[in-house]
Amino acid sequence: MKIINSDFLYTPDGYVQNKAVAFTETIKDIGTLEELIQRYPDAKVIQTESNSILYPGFINTHVHLEFSANKTSLAYGSFKPWLDSVIEHRDELMGACNNEMMLDECTKMMRSGITTFGAISSFGNELEVCEKTPQRVVFFNELIGSNATYADMLYGDFQERVKASQSCETSSRIIPAVAIHSPYSVHPIILQKAVNVAKKNHMPLSTHFLESQAEREWLESSSGTLRAFFLKYFNTSTTVTNIEEFMHAFDTYPTHFTHCVQANEEELNYLAQKGHSIAHCPRSNRYLGCGRLAIEDLPLPFSVATDGLSSNDSLNIFDELRAAIMLHNDIPIQELSQKLLRAVTGDAAEILGLNCGKIEVDKLADFAVVTLPEKPKRTDELALWSILHTKEASEVYIEGEKYV
Ligand code: BEZ
Ligand code: FE2
Repeated sequence: MKIINSDFLYTPDGYVQNKAVAFTETIKDIGTLEELIQRYPDAKVIQTESNSILYPGFINTHVHLEFSANKTSLAYGSFKPWLDSVIEHRDELMGACNNEMMLDECTKMMRSGITTFGAISSFGNELEVCEKTPQRVVFFNELIGSNATYADMLYGDFQERVKASQSCETSSRIIPAVAIHSPYSVHPIILQKAVNVAKKNHMPLSTHFLESQAEREWLESSSGTLRAFFLKYFNTSTTVTNIEEFMHAFDTYPTHFTHCVQANEEELNYLAQKGHSIAHCPRSNRYLGCGRLAIEDLPLPFSVATDGLSSNDSLNIFDELRAAIMLHNDIPIQELSQKLLRAVTGDAAEILGLNCGKIEVDKLADFAVVTLPEKPKRTDELALWSILHTKEASEVYIEGEKYV
């Protein structure tokens, strides 16, 4: 047993003082330091630095490690030129992205306090890295392929990757999961089969959805800038599905929809009614010129995620939260900060069905210690100050083990 004591504890009911946490792999008890020492006299006591806040480990629900080599290759500013540049540079970027590079990005995520991440995997290349990294990884095996001719082959490959991730389940912190790339890139027949795989195995399920105006125009009327993209690369001028049909494919299983920047009120209400949720990627949306997701009006739960280095400049969760504060400039800043911290802890865990994200008895002992540069004068601004002043967590624990 260990006991960790900080000046402040971030709980589901807000920040509390004079409370320590006793833990093994899971959280066993919460009480004053004196109470806990009395109850567990043999426990090792960890006193964090002054002005520290004990948070549950942060959760980055959506990241593409396979694109970690991108710095100045992909075109930012607008969705269609970016997609063109992904096709053009995909092979060289994948080639340049080795295990060392991906593991380094996992370590950087961990230093920022991320103890769980959702890895969207198109090819399964990052499985070995995700086995090695100490973090809990929801390993989203992604299905892609809109062309019916290749659909069976691509589905077969997807099934193999799902199996490979399942075989790592007992020897690592990997949780096998399913991702559908997007409405424009997955044929409806294999899409439904993959949704059924997730449902049958109770796996987390995710998909990109209505990221850009270009995607919306293509799905609505096979028009807009994606028309030239599909003619050029796929020799087709018609979409394989539409918005309504795509949403209906997920009706019976709660799914994490990434982006949804261009979804309208009716569509968001429909997703909410079916128990779905949203992964919000503020920097990715800004860098690809996709617009702002109106998080103040969302009728459904959301997480905040970095997306990959294919549309971002870092996988640091605090960089992402600071960007969210700037992007959502009309939302009162204290309220927004509190909402963002919930989005990367308890809300993200609930969305992905994980037993972490909250400092509560019986939850997994995943912690990130955030240390403020000086003694905070008020407690009602702790959320904002945590976001503004943190580049890296001062200590990180996963299932009770210290890794930072
Ligand atoms: C496809 O396989 O159909 C596809 C892949 C990437 C982007 C768009 C479409
Ligand atoms: Fe993504």
